[in-house]
Amino acid sequence: MSNKTHTISFFSYKGGAGRSTLAYNIIPILANKSFKPTKEKPMIIIDTDVDSCGMSYLVGVKKENITTENCVQYLLSHGCDTSPAIRSVAAHPFLSKLCPVGNAYGYPENEAILLMPAKDGMAITGRDNYGDKDEPFSKKIDSFLTVCNNLGIPAVIFDSAVGNTATANISNEASEIIVCCMRPTTQFTDGTERFLKSLENMDSDEIGKSFSKKNIIVVPNAIPRGETVINGDKYPDTAFSKIRNNFENRFIPGRTIHNYYFNMLDRQEFGIPVVDRFMWYEDILYTRQDLDANEKLALDRYEKLVGIIDDVLEEIDNDSEDF
Ligand SMILES: Nc1ncnc2c1ncn2[C@@H]1O[C@H](COP(=O)(O)OP(=O)(O)O)[C@@H](O)[C@H]1O
Ligand SMILES: [Mg+2]
Repeated sequence: MSNKTHTISFFSYKGGAGRSTLAYNIIPILANKSFKPTKEKPMIIIDTDVDSCGMSYLVGVKKENITTENCVQYLLSHGCDTSPAIRSVAAHPFLSKLCPVGNAYGYPENEAILLMPAKDGMAITGRDNYGDKDEPFSKKIDSFLTVCNNLGIPAVIFDSAVGNTATANISNEASEIIVCCMRPTTQFTDGTERFLKSLENMDSDEIGKSFSKKNIIVVPNAIPRGETVINGDKYPDTAFSKIRNNFENRFIPGRTIHNYYFNMLDRQEFGIPVVDRFMWYEDILYTRQDLDANEKLALDRYEKLVGIIDDVLEEIDNDSEDF
């Protein structure tokens, strides 16, 4: 893996598509297998969903512990500090404010995984919610990522916001890889359609634009196992063909997007199945033997997804070496 800070956003057009759950579950796998964070060079998670702070909740950062000094707004006002005097992560005024959350995963070095929690109750109506009017969130994120690069931070992971909101747009823009969660039950069909429309109008649509030239990994999520009929549609068959046709027919790799990966699907076992409890990586909270068949399959899917992410990261590293 290169020294460059890699960036991944977990996005979905509709809320409740399992972005936070998926990110939460694969972060320890990404940490162990891909990014190998340390206290000196931690992995950073940024919860940009201020309406529904999934990651902050999942790792147990309590709302009452989040102060204005310790929330996404703080990131935004300190992201530009690139002072050469900053020699270490600990000395960094922004990084030192991040919450260590490695213990949520039983990660050996608690401070190797840090979270910038979001503070909820702040509906997103536009960029101004993220700081001052003079400097847009996107610019602050860019300068923050420059700091991360200089410090050798291996990865910044965005638990993105929903749909066509400002923060979703910005976390997508800041990311090399967009993991796009699709929960293809009837209630999400509408959202998926709107999402695909915004991709079709990449030139004019903000969210569409944020996908331009990105690596997109489509993840069919929370798929019922066995046959389920919802409003006359048979799942998972209907979901499989709907998602695949929609994406494959409308994306033009190399032109509209950099590339797009859909091989989470191997037809036999489609997407990430519905699981009844949150899952964590093997040897952290559960051993593989403790998992039921469905959970084992889900873990297998998470690992497969990390494999895809690793391949994309390698491609990104190789491409950047060419310059
Ligand atoms: N694979 C899954 N199987 C079953 N339920 C899931 C799965 N993934 C997520 N969920 C549930 O769906 C709801 C929304 O998930 P969440 O991760 O918060 O979505 P988002 O971040 O996209 O809003 C939660 O109640 C979560 O427990
Ligand atoms: Mg969420």
